[in-house]
Amino acid sequence: MTLSPGELARTGLRFDLDQPLPGAATVTLSRPERRNAQTPGMWRGLAAIGRSLPEQVRVVVIRGEGSSFSAGIDLRLLGGEAVPGSEPLPSPADPGFEDWIASCQEGFGWLRQPEIVSIAAVHGHAIGAGFQLALGCDLRVLADTAQLCMREPTLGLVPDLMGTKPLVDIVGLPRALEICLTGRILAAAEARELRLAELVVPADEMNGAVSDLAAAILTIGPATARATKELLAQAPGNTLAQQAAAERRIQTALQRARSSR
Ligand code: ACO
Repeated sequence: MTLSPGELARTGLRFDLDQPLPGAATVTLSRPERRNAQTPGMWRGLAAIGRSLPEQVRVVVIRGEGSSFSAGIDLRLLGGEAVPGSEPLPSPADPGFEDWIASCQEGFGWLRQPEIVSIAAVHGHAIGAGFQLALGCDLRVLADTAQLCMREPTLGLVPDLMGTKPLVDIVGLPRALEICLTGRILAAAEARELRLAELVVPADEMNGAVSDLAAAILTIGPATARATKELLAQAPGNTLAQQAAAERRIQTALQRARSSR
């Protein structure tokens, strides 16, 4: 399903092809008056973008408009209020509740697909679902104004938008537990120390830094970039011997495909 720009705007999103440069696309959370608070409607919009991504797009930048990256779920939904552009939250008693969460997660999962490299460009607050969206991306560039916070447990929720695995993979279980169960704010400098940011830059240099990163990635051929991402992504779950076998298998497939062109 492809959404028109108008339909996307109603979900609080904007999609700009060839931004910041050809071969890339930028998805902007565009509800600045609500600090880009997220809704199930927005997650459906993200999923629709993922499903209809043009083949030439190899880098996807996720950013927020205004003063925050994203203030997390639209809290009005938790209070049972209607929010324009979104369905209400279903009752947890609904037998389809888990499937509904799966449908929301679709907005995040595509950011890890091997054909693209996703970059979260985070300035200001990234709270709850906002932090999870940043974690859902392959890479994170933070402005020095960035503040990350996993607030879900303080609201009686677990983080369920595909943020827990990357968090644990990056910072380790004890630190992930501490971050989630204190709900404290991580400033950009600490995020860099914890390897939650590939790069921290002054806020006014963020666009340039993201563009430079995208440009560097785009110098690598699409098949090589895809194969490299596939290879690296399986390393944490593999033994050394399994990973060595994956290197041989993927190299052979890549070089055979190259020589047959
Ligand atoms: N949901 C709905 N509305 C929001 C949200 C949100 N998550 N965050 C901010 N807004 C609204 C505010 O209500 C306010 O609306 P108003 O102008 O009609 O009063 C407007 O956005 C601006 O918010 P401020 O708080 O005035 O902005 P400020 O820049 O001072 O603070 C901050 C930003 C820190 C992000 C603050 O708004 C905040 O703490 N928001 C709530 C964060 C939160 O707890 N999110 C849920 C996480 S859990 C999860 O995502 C599952």
